[in-house]
Amino acid sequence: MRIAILSRSPRCYSTRRLREACVAAGYEVKVLDTLRFGIEVQEGEPKLSFRGKRLRDYDAVIPRIGASMTFFGTAVVRQFEQMGVYCVNPSHAISVSRDKLRSIQVLSRHRIGFPTTVFAKDKQAVMAALTRVGTPAIIKLLEGTQGIGVILADNRKMAEAVMEALQEGAKQNVLVQSFVAESRGRDIRALVVGDRVIAAMRRSAVGDEFRSNVHRGGTVENIEIDEEYQRCAVHAAQIMGLRFAGVDMLEGPDGPLVLEVNSSPGLEGIERATGVDVAQAVVQLIAEEVLLPEIDIRQRLSLRNGYGVTEFPILPNSELAGKTIQQTGLRDRDVIVLSITRDSVTIPNPRSDRELYAGDSLLCYGKLITLRGLVPPPKPRKTKKVKTRIKPERAIDSETPGD
Ligand SMILES: Nc1ncnc2c1ncn2[C@@H]1O[C@H](COP(=O)(O)OP(=O)(O)O)[C@@H](O)[C@H]1O
Ligand SMILES: [Mg+2]
Repeated sequence: MRIAILSRSPRCYSTRRLREACVAAGYEVKVLDTLRFGIEVQEGEPKLSFRGKRLRDYDAVIPRIGASMTFFGTAVVRQFEQMGVYCVNPSHAISVSRDKLRSIQVLSRHRIGFPTTVFAKDKQAVMAALTRVGTPAIIKLLEGTQGIGVILADNRKMAEAVMEALQEGAKQNVLVQSFVAESRGRDIRALVVGDRVIAAMRRSAVGDEFRSNVHRGGTVENIEIDEEYQRCAVHAAQIMGLRFAGVDMLEGPDGPLVLEVNSSPGLEGIERATGVDVAQAVVQLIAEEVLLPEIDIRQRLSLRNGYGVTEFPILPNSELAGKTIQQTGLRDRDVIVLSITRDSVTIPNPRSDRELYAGDSLLCYGKLITLRGLVPPPKPRKTKKVKTRIKPERAIDSETPGD
């Protein structure tokens, strides 16, 4: 097997360790400078050149895309994907993980805890955001890393001034987040490879610093994290679509609160703190998954006219609640249940005798016309009381649904 490591720094610890692990497993490996690629877009034949020459065939790619080159780096990874090459982390997942707001937006549909976060541009909305999260408040640049661009504002005046300076002065995109005081300057970095946490460390800020990043002087220690934290980290990485990820979590009053999911996690801190051979685990994952390169399932499944995929909840009054998949007759109506999500646990490929309950979420593929009939209609909206001069007996009923 031939593996390419996309990295701008062949000598850095993480790249070196990944390279060594490939060699130890008996694979051919090359570290390729991401910025030296040329992307050739041609109908039916996506190609890549490297340093001006046609790139040789590779079986797998380990992308190590730095924050400063996300755009070009993800374009290169995307090209490998078009060529059918397995990439440990797919390009779209890397792009999403780079933006703290986008990541939290994606996670927010699922049962993953994170600190209350508000993003706003308009002054009035910013003021409302500050009221909502209270003080002290955390203010963050959307694309900051290593703790740079994470500010703790002790009081409202300071928060307003920081927001004004960053948004209006420096024209930066920033978000406002509630400060999780319970974490006391500590966070947990869980390293997810495939579908499990293979190592975890606690990072603690020093002195009166609240940021626990190693680049801000934070210290690290090996920890065993309990099942709730493991499940949260794995689930967060899966939702983001990352197979190799560093999930940062705060210890909130009611359990884990995800801060961010890193798509090129550093190996040095975690391997030194825990003694776990992370690089070897990544290479082993590649060996297991190399024949399964990323495809856009939604796009592929929609290629046939009139068919598609959708996910919808089963409401208590649904015709599906309380029946087995077989009893629902979905198969006869040309719909297949791909998975059931129940209490944040996913049941893949459910058998036909599996019973469906209200509260389940179904991922289905099939005839759009049938799917449309299964998706619950949007909740009726309450209409506002309408100020009107019409005589009272003809006034519009304020509880009338729909508008
Ligand atoms: N809402 C928060 N409450 C408490 N501490 C926080 C919060 N957000 C960030 N921190 C601290 O700041 C550090 C850096 O924040 P993070 O969002 O991970 O940005 P970066 O990408 O720069 O690492 C975290 O590791 C954590 O210690
Ligand atoms: Mg971080």
